[in-house]
Amino acid sequence: MHFQKRPLNERAAALNRDVERVVNTGVRAWDALKARIGLRGRAAAYDDDAYEFIGGPSETLRKKHYDKSLRLLWKAEQAAPWSTFRDATDGERTLLDAADKAMTADERAARTRITSAEFKALLDRAYSLEEKKALVGILSAIGHGEAYAWLVSASMLGEVQSTGARAAITMQVLEEAKHFVVLRELIQAFDVPVPRLSVWEYMLLEGCLKAKGLDRFFGMNVLVETIALSIFGLLADKPGLEILRLFHLDESRHTALPANYFKEFPLSTWASKSPSRRMSRFMMALPAVPLVLLLEADLAVIGVDAFEFAGSVLRKAIHLAERGGFLLPLPSAQLMPIFNAVFNAYCKVTRPGHTFRNYMVADTTRGSAEADVEREIFGHAAPHVA
Ligand SMILES: [Fe+2]
Ligand SMILES: [Fe+2]
Repeated sequence: MHFQKRPLNERAAALNRDVERVVNTGVRAWDALKARIGLRGRAAAYDDDAYEFIGGPSETLRKKHYDKSLRLLWKAEQAAPWSTFRDATDGERTLLDAADKAMTADERAARTRITSAEFKALLDRAYSLEEKKALVGILSAIGHGEAYAWLVSASMLGEVQSTGARAAITMQVLEEAKHFVVLRELIQAFDVPVPRLSVWEYMLLEGCLKAKGLDRFFGMNVLVETIALSIFGLLADKPGLEILRLFHLDESRHTALPANYFKEFPLSTWASKSPSRRMSRFMMALPAVPLVLLLEADLAVIGVDAFEFAGSVLRKAIHLAERGGFLLPLPSAQLMPIFNAVFNAYCKVTRPGHTFRNYMVADTTRGSAEADVEREIFGHAAPHVA
């Protein structure tokens, strides 16, 4: 490349460099001093000398959560052709059309791009009005939760260290935005009124958003996302809800994020073990119990025992919490029997002929693909699907 070099006043250029150097020294020293005495110094946790965020590159986190999210990135236009989304690239659209052409007439009829009206008709054929209302009751609990997941994950961008962790969180923000807008269209396709947040979920989600620092990882990625993951695992094999498999995959990555982050940036002993933080996490989680009681009616309509669902969620969430270092007032071996006793006491009062059961060993995730995904995250706490 041949550039036509312009004449330059060398003295002026040297003076500008000197002025910058002096002002830079002053501005940086002033910000460093303010930071040292507890005032707001540099706002960005960014190291421009190293060309890296404070905390370093964290390439493992980047590969596990940013690269993998991009590899598994799904488009609503492909997965929900009945929706209003037009997010496929030209290449993806061409591939879809080519796949259409290669199919036999029967295959094409089975996977044809259905319109929104046809999708609504499919839901009407598959479910009674009562079942549609129950499904919307359950799904909207997660739908509202996605709004908070979007807000909480965005707030975590200012909380984590390293370039890799920020890249990971950025993908979560993108995925939560997609979950919120796509799930909203799915729920609205049922054509029944969408309920507001129940007060228990309101308290749970507001608690997550207001939680201190990395405790937001506990509230959202461990607790709320395990509930979401469990609901997607429960519903993804139902007619018209197959897209929830993709949500399930995304949420499984989100639930694994805190433990992967803490491998590189461990939670401080105080944040992990102090009695006050243990108790505040427990209090944050507590509204989940009356929430389950409230969801019992909708879950019953689709043939799911709310306490089997709750036991399955609790076992997985407590396992993830302990693995991440988010200790609770009691260890899981003591906490789970207490919750189980409370569930059984409630059932004894409300269910005629109830006999004591261990709800903590239940698993409500359906589908072997979903079970495999969960086994990868939860290890021994994973479901055992026959
Ligand atoms: Fe989500
Ligand atoms: Fe999520």
